[in-house]
Formats: sequence, structure tokens, C-alpha cells
Amino acid sequence: MIQTKILDGKSVAKAIREETLEEIKQLRQRGLVPGLSAVIVGEDPASLLYVKSKTRTCAELRMYSETVQLPNQITTEKVIEVIHRLNHKKTIDGILVQLPLPKHIDEEAVLSNVLPEKDVDGFHPENIGKLFAGKTSLAPCTPMGIIALLRREGIQIKGREAVVVGRSNIVGKPMALLLLQRHATVTICHSRTRELSSVCRRADILVAAVGKAAFLTRSYLKKHVVIIDVGINRVESEEEVIKLFGKDPLRVEQIKKKGYTLVGDVHPRHPIGIAAAVSPVPGGVGPLTIAQLIKNTVTACRLRHGSKYVRD
Ligand code: GUN
Repeated sequence: MIQTKILDGKSVAKAIREETLEEIKQLRQRGLVPGLSAVIVGEDPASLLYVKSKTRTCAELRMYSETVQLPNQITTEKVIEVIHRLNHKKTIDGILVQLPLPKHIDEEAVLSNVLPEKDVDGFHPENIGKLFAGKTSLAPCTPMGIIALLRREGIQIKGREAVVVGRSNIVGKPMALLLLQRHATVTICHSRTRELSSVCRRADILVAAVGKAAFLTRSYLKKHVVIIDVGINRVESEEEVIKLFGKDPLRVEQIKKKGYTLVGDVHPRHPIGIAAAVSPVPGGVGPLTIAQLIKNTVTACRLRHGSKYVRD
């Protein structure tokens, strides 16, 4: 029986925050305070919650942060005006535009107006291009957080088969490129991939970012695979939860109290005894994204004040 390690995203996130705090202290000695601005359009509760926890983390680390909340019916041109103002603002090192934007806003136009040096999400075409070309750049936070998790857990990337399920611009594509930069053999799968389970069974490192609860089951897993589960799916039915978790009292209680529980893209019980390691949901990838955003902001601040980029 294989002992499956549960990867502790919370403690790795804490370690990243602590390291970043040291860098912040050094910058303060030079009279610099890293600053992050979060731009949010509309009032989507989940987006508001994400932005709040990003700015709260900034406050905990004594960084400067501000949230610009814009009305839902604003035009693309007006959003771009706000971005230009932040591009010029000296106290701001990082700008993040919370996605998704309302449908009438031209997302590509907005993101490509963020100054690449302040693009802490790594979504600007110049930063995407650098990532594609294998050059150092500010890169998307969730995939960068996953790289940090693998490194800190001592999981080798070089020479291994990595399969990424999902091809989004935020997770799947940048994840594949970061793994490739670190010398993995990478396959990207998606909804049209044939024989998905047999492609996944090739993986030494399997990254699941499909957005479907418990989609990857036992038949997708090779023995000793390392599984990174990026999915955050709400499951609301008690019957479904019991099917997935058995009679786990914590999960059943969550359903009763909150009306939902969070489930990853990988079946919560199937990896146990098959995988070498798996990141749990919640408590796996989630905490890493914000820690990495803060780290990217501090990196942006250092780069703007003359330091060189050092690759993780
Ligand atoms: N929405 C979902 N993920 C992200 C992210 O990483 N950055 C931003 N800005 N918005 C998101």
C-alpha cells in the first residue's frame, strides 16, 4: 500500500509569506513600501471576497494596498483610464484586475493596458510572450504557487511526465509553460481530448484545472503520481457529499451550516493509496495563490527599483 502524502499548501504559503516579509523589511530600510492596487468591476460576492483577502494579506505584511471598485455598467474606456492612473502612481508597484470582468468589458484591452512592470498577475501580452519564450517574467500566481509547492515539497520536475488538464489562460497554459521551463515533458489536455484517462495515467505530475467536482477518478491515476488539484467546486447536496466523502462528519456539518462544501477536480478519496502525494481541497493550492501574488508585488517593487529577476 502506497502512503499518500497530503501536500500542505497552508504551511508552504506561510513560508512564502515569511520569506516575502523579510524582503519587505529590506525594502523598508531603503525607504520603499511595496504597494498593490486591486481593480474590481461590479459586485460579484466571490470576487469581492477574493480581493478583500488579497488586501488583508497586504495589511498583515505592512504593505500598501488600495481597492478600486468600479460600477458594473462602466465602459472599457473608463476602466482603461483608471489603469493608466495606476500605471503612473508612484506608490503602486502591482496592479491586479480581478477576473472575470462583466461581459461588455473588453478584457484583452484592459489587461494589455496594465504596465508590464506592474502586471503582478502576468496577464499582459508582453509577460505572456516572455513566459512563452522561456525568459524570466512576472508569471500568473496560481501556477507559480504550484511550482513553489513542488519545489518546497522536494518533488522533482526535471525529466518527468507532467499532464495538465485544462487550458485556461490563468492556470492551464501558464502551468504547462512553467513546467516545460523546468524540463518536464508536458501534455496539455482539455474537453476534446480523446482517451483522457489513459493520457492522465501517463502522468508523474498531474495538474487538474477543469472546474468539475471530483471529475478525475481512480482510473486516471498512475501509481506514485503527484496530484495537484486546482479545482474549487461547490457541492451543495448532502447525498452527493456522502457519495464522495462517506459519512465524513465535518463535510456533512459544512453542508448543514453553510449550504455547501468545497470539492476539487479530483475525487477526494481515490488518490489515497495510489498517489505519492495529493494537494487537498481546501488547503492545497488556494492559499498559495495569494502568497504568490504578494511575492510578485514585492518582486515588481524590487525590479522597478533596480534589482534583477531571480528565477525560483
Ligand atoms: N480570477 C480567478 N483567478 C484569478 C487570478 O489569478 N487573478 C485575477 N486577477 N483574477 C482571477
